[in-house]
Amino acid sequence: MQFTIEVGRYNPEGRYADNAIPGEPFPAPWNRSPVRRYQTYTVDLPEHAVVLDALIEIREYQDQSLAVRCACRSAICGSCAMWINGHANLACKSKLQAFTKDGKTRVESPPSMPVIRDLVCDMAPFWEKHLAVKPWLQNKQPIPPPDEEYRVPNAAMEELIQEVSCISCGACLMDCESFAVNSEFLGPQALAQAYRYTGDPRDAETKERLGQYSESGGIWDCTHCYECVAQCPKGVAPLDQILKLRKLAVDAGFTNNAGTRHADAFAESVRDSGRLNELTLMPKSIGYFNVIEQLKVLPSAFNMLRAGKLPPLIHHKIPGLKRIKAIFERVGGRFK
Ligand code: SF4
Ligand code: SF4
Ligand code: FES
Repeated sequence: MQFTIEVGRYNPEGRYADNAIPGEPFPAPWNRSPVRRYQTYTVDLPEHAVVLDALIEIREYQDQSLAVRCACRSAICGSCAMWINGHANLACKSKLQAFTKDGKTRVESPPSMPVIRDLVCDMAPFWEKHLAVKPWLQNKQPIPPPDEEYRVPNAAMEELIQEVSCISCGACLMDCESFAVNSEFLGPQALAQAYRYTGDPRDAETKERLGQYSESGGIWDCTHCYECVAQCPKGVAPLDQILKLRKLAVDAGFTNNAGTRHADAFAESVRDSGRLNELTLMPKSIGYFNVIEQLKVLPSAFNMLRAGKLPPLIHHKIPGLKRIKAIFERVGGRFK
């Protein structure tokens, strides 16, 4: 069966084949990424072939200059994550037939990461974030005698199976919308690992961890875009783990931060008026007396004003507010 593959190529020395067609700059926020040249190849492979089969076929028999990173070819090592038709996927798990769109499959390095060459991106940002959450157990139990083991209830470890399945491929970070605009964000994989250790009953640093993850760049910087859930090839669902961390952090008393204030302001506005008061949302999130940070958002406020997007100055309540309040009463919790 014939498949057409369009490969986004990048060579730091600027050397390309004559038939390589320059692409368009990526849209913001990825427009800092270098523009690629696209080369089209045709491969003859069985109908069950995956994208990585095509790339290896090209590299081995058509164009040895193509740089591809891969190892296991079995969705285990995590090294072949790349952009396929504009989203991060494992090339060794993506069936060519399923990804062929308008007669071809476009493959390239993700523009959210620095590119080294062709399909090989620099994973340094990924590993820096991974290390930043201290992804190792800080044990609180006494060391058992040599002929005994640490004992952990089965149920406690079953709760962590999802996070342990991570193969560190980076697909979630590559497509994370928050990371694309804020390189300081710890990102989905690191935070899923953060939950894996925070939720482990053997870990002695729960409180310190929750404090660290609640800081700027941590759990509250996720914008719930769900890309990490959609792209993870192992079902880790990093957003779910981030939400668990948020609950643990709030329960542990880490509420004096922009993220919690933002959630509080959101809920209070809906409880008290039935709709979101966007005018007070930002100042409440930042903190009314945090003058320096308030001044930093003034340019955005002026931009909104210029674009005619400033919310109404008078915030009206919706009719039937009693029903909204009843929902808050029923749900209970901090906003009752
Ligand atoms: S849900 Fe949050 S962590 Fe996941 S990709 Fe979106 S912004 Fe990133
Ligand atoms: S959470 Fe999923 S997508 Fe992210 S690195 Fe781990 S396996 Fe890959
Ligand atoms: S080559 Fe190992 S995950 Fe794809």
